[in-house]
Amino acid sequence: MSFVSHQLRCIGSGERIAPDAVSSDFRDPATGELYEVEYPWSETRGDAASLRPKAQALRHLWAERRDSTLPIDASGVWRYRDLLPILKDENNAVTLREGNTPLYDLPRTAKLLGLDFLLAKHQGMNPTGSFKDTGMTTALSVAAERGYKWVACASTGNTSAAMAAYAARAGLRAIVFIPEGKIAWGKLSQSMDYGALTVQLKTDFDGCVKLLTKIVRENPIYLLNSVNPYRLEGQKTPAIEICEQLDWQVPDHVIVPGGNLANGSALGKGFTELKHLGFIDRVPKISVIQAAGANPLFQWFTNAEKQLHPVTADTRATAIRIGNPASWRKAARVIEATGGWCEQADENEIAVAKAQIGAEGIGCEPASAVTLAGLKKLLKSGHVQTGERVVLLLTGHTLKDPEYTIDFHKDLLATDVAEAAPYRRPPLILDSNESSVMRALEAEMAGSV
Ligand code: F0G
Repeated sequence: MSFVSHQLRCIGSGERIAPDAVSSDFRDPATGELYEVEYPWSETRGDAASLRPKAQALRHLWAERRDSTLPIDASGVWRYRDLLPILKDENNAVTLREGNTPLYDLPRTAKLLGLDFLLAKHQGMNPTGSFKDTGMTTALSVAAERGYKWVACASTGNTSAAMAAYAARAGLRAIVFIPEGKIAWGKLSQSMDYGALTVQLKTDFDGCVKLLTKIVRENPIYLLNSVNPYRLEGQKTPAIEICEQLDWQVPDHVIVPGGNLANGSALGKGFTELKHLGFIDRVPKISVIQAAGANPLFQWFTNAEKQLHPVTADTRATAIRIGNPASWRKAARVIEATGGWCEQADENEIAVAKAQIGAEGIGCEPASAVTLAGLKKLLKSGHVQTGERVVLLLTGHTLKDPEYTIDFHKDLLATDVAEAAPYRRPPLILDSNESSVMRALEAEMAGSV
């Protein structure tokens, strides 16, 4: 990888700093705002056409790399490293062959909603089972290259699982802060399995962030939450992969779940850079869906105030149980710039949507299902038209939170809507003989059309 210098640009003031001048909490001390990575060819640098990577040549190069056996070519993030020159030496990339995730069609759901084109980009098919791997490979590689021994994050579970895994690969020590009691077991177990120091704090995600921010200010520990702009560089690559998988035909609308609100921002950056560099001729609308119990951006959007009001978050979609999202300004800009929308989905809507995605043979974790729940509402409100080509971003694997799924099927989630009933498949506990099994099977056959 030829090293192209990059800078960090404050999204509030537009001021630029050298990468190693950034404060440990990744906020501009003057404005309190976050940074984004800016390259010499970025749109914000003006019209430096001669510096722009050439789209046609890169498309070929990226296709060729698919046949390579080099780990960084086999990675669905570093394969696009020409658009993320953040390392001095590409041999420092820490990769688990992330990315390369499938783009599935959802035929039954599309029919139900009257859509011709509905796809799911399943980021839960990453090595640790969530989209976080795409951003962790980039940001943790930066930490390793800069010689850090310790990395840290506050997490609702997926970031910590990804960070623990990549830290272990790189031989770094990891410390994870997670809210006690409000985390899915699959995620908690991963962090321990990969050898991180796992700390369950008696607070929520927002409380974990607060304490960790103080600790990284005073210790040589590299912060890997999504305030770290290198996380977003990796998380922009699914935008490239979606376009590549669609033979460079841009979808009309991409719908993402919103928690700390980095992911929608990262995809927006990805699509916008592709357009600026001439890979695609337009940027899709990007809509963000929050859980109704953790909806500060939705509230900001519907009231259009200047400031975001944090909420006390509560939802069984624990991945997005976040009341004070760090990247809200970046996400709001992407939604507004692309013509997307912000919606919310209540607990019933999330549960039904998750069951519908499961019934397609794909499955996802509850936080991912807000995308389908939100799509239904966007169709009703006219923010999505039935003729649009829609891509849902599924962020986590169904096995991340099996307890939620079991509770749904056993009717323990208190989903009180009629749409849930046809999807419920509670396990049958039967006497171990043929006749009792046959009776159950016949009843099922009589019930199905
Ligand atoms: N979906 C899943 C499965 C997540 O784990 C998260 C965030 C999101 C969606 C929302 O993404 O924060 O970029 O808006 N999980 C965090 C974590 C915050 O700690 O794992 P976002």
